[in-house]
Amino acid sequence: REGAYLAALLDPWQAHDSFTVLSSRKITAFSLELVPRTTRAQAMDVLSSQANLAGYRGVLLAATLLPKLFPMLMTAAGTLVPAKVFVLGAGVAGLQAIATARRLGAVVSAFDVRAAVREQVQSLGAKFVEFDLGDASGDGGYAKALTPEQEAMQKRLLAEYIAREGIDVIITTAAIPGKPSPKLVTEEMVQSLAPGSVIVDLASERGGNCTLTRPGETVSVHGVTIAGPLGIASDLACHASQLYSKNITTFAGLLLDREGNLVLNRQDEIIAGSLVLENGQPATEQIARMLGL
Ligand code: NAI
Repeated sequence: REGAYLAALLDPWQAHDSFTVLSSRKITAFSLELVPRTTRAQAMDVLSSQANLAGYRGVLLAATLLPKLFPMLMTAAGTLVPAKVFVLGAGVAGLQAIATARRLGAVVSAFDVRAAVREQVQSLGAKFVEFDLGDASGDGGYAKALTPEQEAMQKRLLAEYIAREGIDVIITTAAIPGKPSPKLVTEEMVQSLAPGSVIVDLASERGGNCTLTRPGETVSVHGVTIAGPLGIASDLACHASQLYSKNITTFAGLLLDREGNLVLNRQDEIIAGSLVLENGQPATEQIARMLGL
């Protein structure tokens, strides 16, 4: 309806047709990707609630694709060594991937460009891999894009690490807000993995962290299985919906006064941060450029 309010994941980083339609219908729109990462906003944080599920599900996918067990097993027929899992990007999805792989008994290591993550990785019982690139923490808990020098160094150190450690599974989750996923795992790195190894690229939605990922497909290249799942949280539809609806209802509460009337309180940082269109007009000039309006 003309003049309605809409709160949803709107993918605000690029111009697309829906914004032109929303604008012409004079919609007031909130993009939930832009909700600030503050303590108060946590219950409305859709990216976190869904990334958490993606991290869990991504590891289960890897475990079923890998022709090995995750845990160590001592049997009468011999001892099986635990799988080695490497998690690249230890944000919300990555930390849940670490925890899930540990619960399944794998030996887990992880790397992230934000130095603050080291302790979080270690607290989950995983090893933090020390690649000395310098801290790339950006605003709001997110990472900054690396400089070309840092990128080259990361590729070199990653290639050495992956080839040396006998990694069975790589789970990638690295993302920079509003940018395509950084390409971190190259074809040479894939070639250095043993046949049967698995890569689950949880960054596929924005192109993927592995150069060989085909978003939406599972492919086998150089004997390595590379899965590029899309919308993986929907595999857990029950809990994905439960968390999403809690996020949405909490957000909707900010838009209502005591009598239940719609209000637009621009003084509220969560409203101001996520508002992209007001009566069809871009909320700021920067947003107008982002949405192509
Ligand atoms: P994200 O989905 O944007 O990125 C995932 C991870 O990839 C990040 O940890 C990032 O540092 C990492 N990354 C980026 N480039 C990389 C590279 N070249 N190599 C390796 N890793 C790379 O981030 P996400 O998971 O949505 O959130 C990141 C952090 O934000 C959280 O870990 C937390 O510290 C903070 N946060 C805070 C909240 C709060 O206080 N309410 C809520 C949610 C997150």
